[in-house]
Amino acid sequence: MATILSERCEAVSTPAWSYRTAKPVISFDQARELTAEYGSPLMCVSRSAVAANYEALREGLPGVELFYAAKSNPSPTILRTLRDLGGSIDICSVGELRAALDAGFQPEQMLHTHPCKTMANLKTCYDAGCRWFVVDNRNELQKMKEHAPDATLLLRVAITSASSLINLSAKFGCAASEAVDLLCEARDLGMNVNGISFHVGSQTLVPEDYEAALRTIRSIFDEAAACGISLDVLDIGGGMPAPYREAVMSLDVYCYVVRQALEQHFGDLPVRIIAEPGRVMSATTATLITSVIGKSVRPNGSTQYIIDDGIYGSFSGKIYDHTDFPLLAEDHHARAGYPCVVAGPTCDSTDVVCRDQELPDLAIGELLIVPTMGSYTNASASTFNGLDLVREVEVA
Ligand SMILES: Cc1ncc(COP(=O)(O)O)c(C=O)c1O
Repeated sequence: MATILSERCEAVSTPAWSYRTAKPVISFDQARELTAEYGSPLMCVSRSAVAANYEALREGLPGVELFYAAKSNPSPTILRTLRDLGGSIDICSVGELRAALDAGFQPEQMLHTHPCKTMANLKTCYDAGCRWFVVDNRNELQKMKEHAPDATLLLRVAITSASSLINLSAKFGCAASEAVDLLCEARDLGMNVNGISFHVGSQTLVPEDYEAALRTIRSIFDEAAACGISLDVLDIGGGMPAPYREAVMSLDVYCYVVRQALEQHFGDLPVRIIAEPGRVMSATTATLITSVIGKSVRPNGSTQYIIDDGIYGSFSGKIYDHTDFPLLAEDHHARAGYPCVVAGPTCDSTDVVCRDQELPDLAIGELLIVPTMGSYTNASASTFNGLDLVREVEVA
């Protein structure tokens, strides 16, 4: 199915094969059938898309163990599919622990990546059998020493990234200059820190950002070795991008650049390399179906559509994740497009999904489908205004 994105892609000079565009996992015929059965709005999660993304990443980054970042979308369809394929999981909370256990993951397949855990979170995950955790400061080291003395730890280091939409080092990660001191303190406490984790940021558009990060992290490995501390694990975090209204680089080209950087900086070290991919694994696996429930011309002359999902629901990523989702109408390109405002169903004026996408003249009851809704969407939705969270359905 054509999307507005494929047109933009053709306009750029780089060959189209080196880009990924947003594609729905269902057709409009399927959308009609599904909403007749389950109602609207409806989040459709595709099992085969999850498997395809997992295999593509495994192929792109051979030898890198994939710990799916459950926070991007803890959907049972996604978790069960990845568990069946032999993936591992990154959890941050008791809720994500339960989702992972329900999907069949064993505690040994989990990495707990929250650098500042509540006692309830730490104790529950520890009691469930988790033994691999992330820290980024000395107080957390002390906490782990007291409550999880036999845990294995990764030290998270803050990294600056030029091309990411979201800076994942703004809140967490020790300074690179502090890392070896913390490793020495951990050793003195008798804690086992077996590696370093970092995050280039989320929706990192340029894979060369990994090269700069890996150079910094390699210097920490070398300094630590000079202090007699041997590190065995390199965790390259998450960050790979997904296509939304804009296309992104194809995964094979992106991974090629990351592989080269890994080879350049860690090719001579016998390290276990892991990653915590979220968005790149989940974003393209889900398509939202939403219906037009209202249409009016506002006093300023603009046409406004109200749809049955909004920024307090599945479009929450527009606020928290700074993403702009492409809205597709049936036969989109065959119909004339007009400027309009598309707003969500709550009584709040902030609940505006987009102001700058042209849509055909839509009828009340007409369905829109929204691809790339699988990351940081319903995972961060609320029930504000007494509205239900979107229903999720598994599709092939
Ligand atoms: C600790 C950690 N790991 C992995 C991820 C996943 O990042 P992404 O979805 O960009 O791959 C995040 C995102 O917030 C994170 O905080």
